[in-house]
Amino acid sequence: MLPHLSSKPSEATHQVRAALDAVFSWSYSSEIDALRSLYAKGLDRQWNAMRDLPWEGGIDRSAFASSFTMGGFPIQETDFWKTLGPDTQWDVARRGSAFMLSNFLHGEQGALMVASQLVNAVPHMDGKFYAATQTLDEARHVEVFAAYIEKLDHIYPIAPSLQKLLDATLGGDDWCTKCVGMQIVVEGLALFSFRDMRNATNEPLLKQLLTYVGRDEARHTAYGIKYLGSVVPTLSPAEVAALEDFAFEAARMLLDSRSGPTMRGAVLERWKEAGVDPADVMAALAKESGMARIVAKMGGRRGPVSGFVIPTLQAIGLLSDRIQGHFRDMFDHMQGIGAQDIMGSIVALPEDLDAWIEDGAPAG
Ligand SMILES: [Fe+2]
Ligand SMILES: [Fe+2]
Repeated sequence: MLPHLSSKPSEATHQVRAALDAVFSWSYSSEIDALRSLYAKGLDRQWNAMRDLPWEGGIDRSAFASSFTMGGFPIQETDFWKTLGPDTQWDVARRGSAFMLSNFLHGEQGALMVASQLVNAVPHMDGKFYAATQTLDEARHVEVFAAYIEKLDHIYPIAPSLQKLLDATLGGDDWCTKCVGMQIVVEGLALFSFRDMRNATNEPLLKQLLTYVGRDEARHTAYGIKYLGSVVPTLSPAEVAALEDFAFEAARMLLDSRSGPTMRGAVLERWKEAGVDPADVMAALAKESGMARIVAKMGGRRGPVSGFVIPTLQAIGLLSDRIQGHFRDMFDHMQGIGAQDIMGSIVALPEDLDAWIEDGAPAG
């Protein structure tokens, strides 16, 4: 017998007015070869989250605690970390990671909904086919992240700035806007961060999970690059400028969502729950020599934007001098390496995203 379900959203939901025009295409033959072959690849590389991952072994706690990454910050390399006992290390690692992974999980749900919107909104059959495979991929990602987080701790609420970005993308009223918000900015962040996390962790279940998810995300990003890359040159200057503005705003929200003051506060809250005074953490980190250099090398919280989103925007023709100026101003207002270092030498996008996911080389 099925439980009684209400047709109305419960309190455990968030509603946003989604905008799109649903477009039928009467051209059923393939028009964009690159997207058709991406669709074929997507079909070929499906996997089953519950069947294909080693869930039965559970999480290897010491491997997890010795190799987790929190927003790109290598806490295990500090002397302070070594003063904590193994139980506290595991407690900090599991709570902090569950918090970070929860935001990835919520982002995956946003991706699931945007991908399904793209099935309706894109005007080419190849684009619809591909978005249909991505929709299934994203459902699987929601499934695996939720299952993994439940083994660590519990699912934390979404960061407000990530919610804002997902809402803006779902509410964007043309498909190019949705594609820029999701396939370029959110997917770019996901691909970059999952790769970082995959290469850092020695925990076997998480490594395998992120390998599968990362391969899917590489296709999702490739879709945005190939599709928008072929459409942007046909748009009017005003349409291009509007897309550039949206991309910049999305990236700005993304930086806020990753580790603005609120995010840092939320991570420190997890330390407190594990019995470590946040004031001691901050004082100890301030004393660590070489930390600033490591963080600067990794790009800190700008990493995914400077290492992936900006080169992607350049590749698809959405990085005019005007918008580069906006990025430069934004970086100028953030601490760390000078803006010139980032905008003066934009890194090249990896040619083979699939291979890049697993090659372990430093980003950029
Ligand atoms: Fe995903
Ligand atoms: Fe994705």
